[in-house]
Amino acid sequence: MSKNDPKRVHSRRAVLRAGLAGGAAALAPLSAASAQTNPANLPPNVADWTKMLGEGVAARPYGKPSKHEAHVGRRDVSWLTASPQSSVSFTPLHEIDGVITPNGLCFERHHAGIAELNSADYRLMLHGLVDKPLIFTLDDIKRMPRVNRAYFCECAANSGMEWRGAQLNGCQYTHGMVHCVMYTGVPLKVLLNEAGLKPKAKWLLLEGGDSAAMTRSLPLAKALDDVLIAYRMNGEMLYPENGYPVRVVVPGWEANMWVKWLRRIEVGDEPWHTREETSKYTDLLEGGQARRFTYLMEAKSVITNPSPQAPLKHKSGFTVLSGIAWSGRGKIARVDVSLDGGRNWRTAKIDGPAWDKALTRFYYEFEWDGSELLLQSRAMDESGYVQPSKAELRKYRGVNSIYHNNGIQTWQLHKNGEVENVEVG
Ligand code: MTE
Ligand code: CO
Repeated sequence: MSKNDPKRVHSRRAVLRAGLAGGAAALAPLSAASAQTNPANLPPNVADWTKMLGEGVAARPYGKPSKHEAHVGRRDVSWLTASPQSSVSFTPLHEIDGVITPNGLCFERHHAGIAELNSADYRLMLHGLVDKPLIFTLDDIKRMPRVNRAYFCECAANSGMEWRGAQLNGCQYTHGMVHCVMYTGVPLKVLLNEAGLKPKAKWLLLEGGDSAAMTRSLPLAKALDDVLIAYRMNGEMLYPENGYPVRVVVPGWEANMWVKWLRRIEVGDEPWHTREETSKYTDLLEGGQARRFTYLMEAKSVITNPSPQAPLKHKSGFTVLSGIAWSGRGKIARVDVSLDGGRNWRTAKIDGPAWDKALTRFYYEFEWDGSELLLQSRAMDESGYVQPSKAELRKYRGVNSIYHNNGIQTWQLHKNGEVENVEVG
């Protein structure tokens, strides 16, 4: 069987025909409006911009990307949007490199829109099974000992639309509910020590100050381990859409627990069984049982370039394939890449920092012979966990799930350089 045997490759069109998806074709336009070349600017001529003075320094008090990069942005998918207030916009993973997500491109997920807090009225309450209930102002929090840590933040629903087959045509949509930024914040254990925990304390309730009042239960052991009460992202104060002025950072665990606009922490002795940990963020298995309290985000990876929104412009020759890998268990130890749908694997090159529970960048350089390829990546973390194929995942989890889909992604690279979301098997 050849690698592009139609029996082996399940395209998204087949899935669409099977009626499992609606409206995937209605996505916003994806490709960049490429500027016209002006021969007068090309060598050996002196280009326009060399013949005149540039704009002065004060013209841009806050810098922005070049106007020629205006196509780079977060996007939503209309049929995944109940209302703009209860929606998600996705990180354009195919437009960025390295491991840090620029603040303005971090995906956003809100259940009741962006809460507009002002820093003067911000208060964080800490109460329940503590010796001394406390209320912190933002200045109180900023005065405490702080740390800087880069972590990935992935919505448990990332890739959730792909459970039953290939569907969305672009890594921004299939994998773009993840970002990775350098947080500055206070370890939660510092605040808990300040209040003093009663001996029965076992769980915390985290509550958001938005009108969804998002609430999640957090085991005390995790709170005392690496959870941060963060107020800066990549050095700047948190952006409103990411929880200004204070959010919870729960390294390696599902983003739903990373409560934004944090209002209250209650200490208790058992979980609260809130909506977000019962009817939501719970997966129905084939036998009718539900998986609950599935906090950890397992190892995952995706090739960001080439990908459906980032086709190859050359027809053959030297090609750099690039992608990201991450694991809630710790560091990424290795990433393998396949060009033939998982038959043969080669080890990719990891470049840049490979931090604990953070996005890790990989590259694979090869000579493309211009033939059709089935591109895959497979992440392995320091615990020895290996990212499963979608078929392996479905064996254990069935197809009723939405959350925690970390199966291997396949992109079909066509001879004309275009790329399509497919499944093999
Ligand atoms: N916190 C509050 N208060 N309200 C919310 O709607 N959404 C959660 C989480 N924290 C949410 C929240 C979900 S489901 C996700 S995926 C992350 O925030 C998204 O974080 P981001 O918008 O910074 O990407
Ligand atoms: Co989410």
